[in-house]
Amino acid sequence: MAKPVRIGIVGVGSLSLRGLLPHLTQSDLAERVTITALCDPVPNRATAAADRFNIRHVFTDYTELLACDEVDAVTLATPISLHFEQGRQALIAGKHVHFNKTMTTSADDATELITLANQKQLKIVASPGEMLRPHNQRIKEMLREGAIGVLCWAACGAAFGTYHESEKERQGPDVLSNVDPSWYFRIPGGGPLYDMTVYALHALTGILGSVRKVVALSGTRITERSFQGRAVTCDAHDNTVMLLDFGESLFAFAYGTAGGRITYGFNGSYFGTTGSIVGFTYNGLPLDYPGAEIARKVPRPEGVEWQGQIPGNQWLLPHITEAHREIPEQHVFEDIMQLVDWIREDRATIVTAAHARHVIEIIEAAYRANQEGRAQILRTTLENGPAVSSCGSS
Ligand SMILES: NC(=O)c1ccc[n+]([C@@H]2O[C@H](COP(=O)([O-])OP(=O)(O)OC[C@H]3O[C@@H](n4cnc5c(N)ncnc54)[C@H](O)[C@@H]3O)[C@@H](O)[C@H]2O)c1
Repeated sequence: MAKPVRIGIVGVGSLSLRGLLPHLTQSDLAERVTITALCDPVPNRATAAADRFNIRHVFTDYTELLACDEVDAVTLATPISLHFEQGRQALIAGKHVHFNKTMTTSADDATELITLANQKQLKIVASPGEMLRPHNQRIKEMLREGAIGVLCWAACGAAFGTYHESEKERQGPDVLSNVDPSWYFRIPGGGPLYDMTVYALHALTGILGSVRKVVALSGTRITERSFQGRAVTCDAHDNTVMLLDFGESLFAFAYGTAGGRITYGFNGSYFGTTGSIVGFTYNGLPLDYPGAEIARKVPRPEGVEWQGQIPGNQWLLPHITEAHREIPEQHVFEDIMQLVDWIREDRATIVTAAHARHVIEIIEAAYRANQEGRAQILRTTLENGPAVSSCGSS
């Protein structure tokens, strides 16, 4: 039997406290994965979390975690602007890497990481693994089968709202409850595109294939927010609308905004010559997909804005069993388990760094299109992506 994969968690903020640590310390995983180290530069944060979850090593300095020989892989749960450099250092130190979305903020940086991982024979899993979800696989199949005739256009996107200011890990007085969300609203790495629209774009491209061209308008509507009574200056764009060209005159509208939405959850809407798939409906009736009946029966956790999502869909992911069904951020745990299985069983995953890179290039191109006032031709494609011409076009 392969040994448990020893993981170091980097960044002990909201996601780690609410999701990564509760999931990855469950007893059912003991033979497959163990958390051996935590790292966070905020004094005492990693120590306090280690005491709560019984973790052996704590660090405030990331290079010391990378030098720890009881760490095989890291999961980066830090602000997005740090992911590229922390991922690069981890690969150089010989560690496998799971990136919490988003992997990098430029396609070139993503390529550098992919090349480095290949050279060092290390594995990268880059969240979000939206194509692990049965409903997305079913929608892809339906479009190929011509269920809505010739697909003409699609839409997807997400809105920030006040989600990150409202998380419970940010409301209290101590190191485990006063986690500062300011980076979500600042450049580089802030804004709803990298944080939320990224899910919608992973699903859209997983279903339709590679984008070829992007035009966009983008800016900042909310220039100040507040955290624990302090003003937070916001310079990251929080209002971006883009048009995506998939070739053969197939187009999509995508958005990442401070408020308001025209789509459902992170699900796209797909419009064809004979019908539509809108969120979780097919021609106005509930969309059928493997596990839909189970997913629809799962009670919605209170105090969470689900924005049209079906939270029970996370129960349909392969590793969401028993206790994991009661812990939040199940999709993130699933992505980490994709890396664990890949390391232990050499079982490759569809949650690839190449897919993440293509989505990153779309976001990068949108910002550049806005700045330059002209369309941007993309250089990357989705490995494993379907040919666009198969989506119901004749
Ligand atoms: N909060 C969510 O709902 C959520 C859900 C899914 C994925 N994510 C992703 O997870 C990541 C973390 O998000 P979060 O909301 O937990 O952020 P957060 O701000 O709550 O926590 C980030 C933590 O990283 C620490 N940190 C800062 N610099 C560091 C460094 N150099 N080395 C190590 N740690 C450092 C901070 O002190 C903080 O404790 C992001 O990529 C985010 O997109 C977040």
